Amino acid sequence: RRTTVGIIGAGPAGLLLARLLHRSGIDCVVLESRDRDYVERRQRAGILEQATVDALRAGGAGERMDREGLPHDGIELRFDRRAHRLDFPALTGGRRVMVYAQTEVVKDLIALQLADGPPLLFDARATAVEGAHTDRPVIRYLHHGTAHTLDCDYVVGCDGYHGVTRQAVPQSERRTYERGYPYSWLGVLAEVPPSSDELVYAHSERGFALLSMRTPAVSRLYLQVPNGTDPAAWPDERIWDELEARTAVDAPWKLRRGPITAKSVLPMRSSVTEPMRYGRVLLAGDAAHIVPPTGAKGLNLAVADVTVLARALDRLHRTGGAELLDAYSDTCLRRVWRAEHFSWFMTTTLHTAPGQTPFDTRLQRAQLDRIAGSPHAAAELAENYTGVPLP
Ligand code: FAD
Ligand code: DHB
Repeated sequence: RRTTVGIIGAGPAGLLLARLLHRSGIDCVVLESRDRDYVERRQRAGILEQATVDALRAGGAGERMDREGLPHDGIELRFDRRAHRLDFPALTGGRRVMVYAQTEVVKDLIALQLADGPPLLFDARATAVEGAHTDRPVIRYLHHGTAHTLDCDYVVGCDGYHGVTRQAVPQSERRTYERGYPYSWLGVLAEVPPSSDELVYAHSERGFALLSMRTPAVSRLYLQVPNGTDPAAWPDERIWDELEARTAVDAPWKLRRGPITAKSVLPMRSSVTEPMRYGRVLLAGDAAHIVPPTGAKGLNLAVADVTVLARALDRLHRTGGAELLDAYSDTCLRRVWRAEHFSWFMTTTLHTAPGQTPFDTRLQRAQLDRIAGSPHAAAELAENYTGVPLP
């Protein structure tokens, strides 16, 4: 089998890239190791930047998002039993975000792809990428357990943090920069309307808490927990009590409780692999970089990468010009490192590390006070949160 662009991984990055290439008339094949049901159910991100919303529309996947997505004009920060709202449009010259779950983005893209798109194979696990420095790189894969090869002009690894594509780049040619964190998130879904109209990010000495949502009827909630926590140690009552304690303010407000339908623990890591291109092999999304979730940048970065890449491949296809493709890694890495810094900043400012001293806690509060009190500091957060426009 052969194709122009072989795409490994049907997460948001691989699926959107396939749609954008299809629209440019570029032939591609997507290989996904899991089955469709698994990919569509995987609970992950929920906040889309304006640039992500625009990219999904450009990929033809905006219709249901525009109907069912919830535009958000701000977030609330809570610390010291006080609440401060950040007004995004006022702070950024009109930018906002959209709440629309990654599960729904993925479902929409898969439906389009299967209806009129290039091939998307489930149960197709890439085992190796060979010949990155030749004109004809090859993907070896197992489809329902049978070995196949896909000959490509270009291979794009959209196969996430645990993918195989990165290994096609010799160790001497790549460098990974990483950092771990001494805490994880317990994430739950609950069949209860959100307790506030906007997301609540709460700093407390008991640890971080985040109140988010998926729809007007479904809440998505997160609690900082120690690394290695077993979700079974958190019965529903304990989760609600802890969320309530960490988000408490000296004002009338009540946390709505309801049936919890899913519970999982997510570890946190920052990691960037450079460069994002080697010969005819390119990396995009989590395959190249991950961020801790605080600030919701992971999905947005993945979409930004493939938007830049689709434009570069379109230019190559139409004019033979390789200058955008040659600039791909540098173009993406500037945005990636900005998001790495923001995600690290949000994470370390809002969480309470084990063994954190009262001095450290005072510094965090001073920083949060600055954001609450200064439009300049607030604008810095708001610009990063709503996302810088694509170059
Ligand atoms: P992925 O979505 O990881 O997709 C990669 C795809 O490649 C997967 O479908 C995988 O099955 C497939 N694959 C892997 N190896 C192979 C192979 N060898 N062959 C074929 N296919 C392969 N971000 C937020 O903003 N907020 C959140 O709350 C949040 N929560 C998260 C929770 C978890 C558990 C994780 C892992 C991530 C979370 N993220 C969150 C980050 C965000 O979901 C990711 O940044 C986003 O999914 C990246 O998209 P992607 O397409 O690059 O990678
Ligand atoms: C969500 C996740 C985040 O990491 C975040 O900062 C905001 C919202 C969410 O899953 O809804």
